[in-house]
Amino acid sequence: MHGGVVMKWIDQVGYAAAVGWSGRYSVTVAVGGIRFVAPIRISDLVTVTATLVYTGTSSMHFAIDVRARDPGLDASQASNRLCTHCIIVFVALDGVEGKPTSVPAWQPDTDADRRMSEYAIKVMELSKGIEQTIAHYQQPGAGTETEKAAG
Ligand SMILES: CC(C)(COP(=O)(O)OP(=O)(O)OC[C@H]1O[C@@H](n2cnc3c(N)ncnc32)[C@H](O)[C@@H]1OP(=O)(O)O)[C@@H](O)C(=O)NCCC(=O)NCCS
Repeated sequence: MHGGVVMKWIDQVGYAAAVGWSGRYSVTVAVGGIRFVAPIRISDLVTVTATLVYTGTSSMHFAIDVRARDPGLDASQASNRLCTHCIIVFVALDGVEGKPTSVPAWQPDTDADRRMSEYAIKVMELSKGIEQTIAHYQQPGAGTETEKAAG
């Protein structure tokens, strides 16, 4: 599979999870630490899991695991390969002006929850640091452009 197809699934699953948690229309604001660990082959059975690991005021951070298996093999954990992992962040918007709006807070209960929460905060800090670096070095008009109609 092409990486872009996998990224689309990640965005769709994250969107469903974000709207489910907040009850609001939500948009993707950032994807951090994406890693394509192993290939997904045509005809593999794919599972995309979104786990809420941190909430800010308007943001919801999900750890995403994409796993794949050969449908001819048993469904055991061993045959379910981790193929892609990332943190995806959604922001809930209000229905009037489309401005960020608050979401229900998620509280970590276990040590594993707290670890994942800390991980999400670290990824967000790194992601915001990268944004600042890009803003510093970005040259308007540089690179190759390809136009595509949005929709
Ligand atoms: C999402 C959007 C409304 C946020 O607007 P904004 O003016 O930047 O709003 P804020 O600065 O208040 O940030 C909103 C939240 O995003 C979070 N955020 C911003 N940049 C982030 C990053 N790199 N990583 C993680 N979270 C980030 C902020 O921490 C804040 O979270 P909080 O409310 O929980 O503290 C705006 O950036 C937008 O419309 N982006 C396009 C979204 C979109 O169209 N996505 C689809 C892809 S085309």
